[in-house]
Amino acid sequence: MRVAHLSLGDFRNYKAAELELHAGANLIVGRNGQGKTNLVEAISYFATLRSHRVSADSAMIRAGSPAAILRMRVAAGERDVVLETQLNRVGANRSQVNGNQVRARELTRWFTSVMFAPEDLSIVRGDPAGRRRFLDDALIARLPVASGVIADYERVVRQRTSLLKSARSAGRGSAAVLATLEVWDDQLIEHGVRIMLARQELVRDLEAPLAAAYTALVGEDHGPRLSLNESVHEAQREVSRETVRGSAPGAPIVSRETLTDQFRDALLQVRGKELERGVTLVGPHRDDLELELNRLPVRGYASHGESWSFALALKIALATVIREESPAGDPVIILDDVFAELDRGRRERLMAVVSEFEQVIVTAAVEGDVPEGLSWNRIEVAAGELTQRGDDG
Ligand SMILES: Nc1ncnc2c1ncn2[C@@H]1O[C@H](COP(=O)(O)OP(=O)(O)OP(=O)(O)O)[C@@H](O)[C@H]1O
Ligand SMILES: [Mg+2]
Repeated sequence: MRVAHLSLGDFRNYKAAELELHAGANLIVGRNGQGKTNLVEAISYFATLRSHRVSADSAMIRAGSPAAILRMRVAAGERDVVLETQLNRVGANRSQVNGNQVRARELTRWFTSVMFAPEDLSIVRGDPAGRRRFLDDALIARLPVASGVIADYERVVRQRTSLLKSARSAGRGSAAVLATLEVWDDQLIEHGVRIMLARQELVRDLEAPLAAAYTALVGEDHGPRLSLNESVHEAQREVSRETVRGSAPGAPIVSRETLTDQFRDALLQVRGKELERGVTLVGPHRDDLELELNRLPVRGYASHGESWSFALALKIALATVIREESPAGDPVIILDDVFAELDRGRRERLMAVVSEFEQVIVTAAVEGDVPEGLSWNRIEVAAGELTQRGDDG
């Protein structure tokens, strides 16, 4: 698929903007702070329903305006679809597909993108929350209904945790509290198991494309691996001392029933601690993704360049998986300010890999950082104004 056209009204530093995008390579250039990232943030909003930079939608509404409008025409094969969303400072956002009012979630069914950004380095070097976010964004990109499951799970965690907290202050373990807790346990397990199974499947499916992408990028095989470190199994391990691993490479695939039992056991295991601390201690919100190069953890061992290559390879792997299974065609590839971080060889190899996708959108502050030899649709950005220059060969 590809973005054919983007219209913005009162979005970030754009009062009004019209952007024509082509199949193939598109380049958005402009000095720092002119509005390059703002453009790709608007595009990827339709894929994830959130900004990759901030958690509050209101930051995306132009200062002083009550609402922002984002409208995007997506071409998938022979079909065009117009997606629209209005972000409101007060009241709920409104979404439309081809002019018909829809629930926001519906938008993600029509558009998929994979964004590469300097912040991706924190997937490999930062804390577990960033890796969980990568996993969850990937699940949603792969299967839009996942956003509902993830939202339901997060709600259950919040409600269960607040029950644990109030149980703590009321004196732990009353019969009424324990009965209510069981109701929440059931829901936590039900949604949690769905997320865990989907993440396990994703990690299995990423393994081969990750290795291929890393080699394509670096020119050498450093044996990149990824595996899940699941809190459900941690809790069990503390008691049994035996090694149970969820989806370590080569680990057997566990059934939904087995995982459900393991989750329930783990909750019983940590019940005392949970009531003591007022925290939900097991479940996908406490899990982590372990990354290795040359049999060593990336975090703490890999060089800056190796860490970057790993992060990029992970995104390429995700794009490859989506491409192979999406009936709507390739995800749109977005590279925000990525070339500045790479040496010449890796710039060219990265561009060669992503050029196989139907559409690539690149932003750069310095045009010289962008690989030559491609026919770019070139757009200049200055202070929220766009100038379209067409192909520059
Ligand atoms: N809600 C908003 N209302 C008005 N202006 C905003 C809003 N949010 C951000 N901006 C402005 O947008 C500009 C930043 O745009 P953006 O992040 O797209 O820059 P960029 O071109 O990607 O720069 P860089 O090359 O440094 O990454 C800043 O000047 C910022 O003040
Ligand atoms: Mg930027």
